Amino acid sequence: PRTGVVIVAAGSGTRLGAGQPKAFVPVAGVPMLERALWSFVGLPGEWELAIVVPEGFEDEARQLAERAFGEYESSRMTLHLCLGGESRQASVREGLRCLSEQCDVILVHDAARCMASSALIERVAGAVRATHAGVIPALPVVDTIKRVRTNPSGSESIEETVSRTPLRAVQTPQGFPAAALRRAYEMAAEEYTDDAAIVSACGYQVSTIPGEGDAFKITTPADLRRAEQHVESFAP
Ligand code: CTP
Ligand code: MG
Repeated sequence: PRTGVVIVAAGSGTRLGAGQPKAFVPVAGVPMLERALWSFVGLPGEWELAIVVPEGFEDEARQLAERAFGEYESSRMTLHLCLGGESRQASVREGLRCLSEQCDVILVHDAARCMASSALIERVAGAVRATHAGVIPALPVVDTIKRVRTNPSGSESIEETVSRTPLRAVQTPQGFPAAALRRAYEMAAEEYTDDAAIVSACGYQVSTIPGEGDAFKITTPADLRRAEQHVESFAP
């Protein structure tokens, strides 16, 4: 069995505001996408990766993938490069078109979660094979959550405190049986915020496994600083 991965790296990074597509912004000197690939180097088993990038970044992506995989890119790791779309969902769709039918399980991963560990990737893929259903990493919500009402003046009033007990903040990689993910993308008629929502909307089962703090998404300049501090805490 071969595990397929769609790594979406085709976003513009508006909220980060670094003046270039986010996945190519360096985190302590190494582009985010390259760091994201590091966690796929040396995994046991056979893998097929579709790296989805913005137009004009194909060469840079090819170079950083070569750096990341080096000699490992062999019979056990097949790489594809494809161009993304207008939305994350459109980019995932492009990635799915690149992956061969040999993949029985497919993971979808944000390049912006460039610190997600190899262990998390393996846990997600393993749980999909064990359950034959969708699996997503999830963490308890730690903040107190309020439901608000926006007043005509634009101010907000608190309506209620929402119980956070049943709430989870979800991450990537999200893993699915390939047939279910492909079918769900064929059926998807609207924009969803994650792949689990697309697969659930199609009637397939999706369950959670424990996520990890390191799999946080770099969205804002503050997230980038947090990632750099994290990397530097491991520097010799
Ligand atoms: N993504 C993508 N194609 C898009 C939009 C997003 O491949 N059209 C990818 C991003 O590259 C990122 C992941 O989806 O790895 C999560 O998206 P997000 O964090 O929203 O990244 P951006 O869309 O680039 O950032 P922003 O929303 O701030 O512009
Ligand atoms: Mg976005």
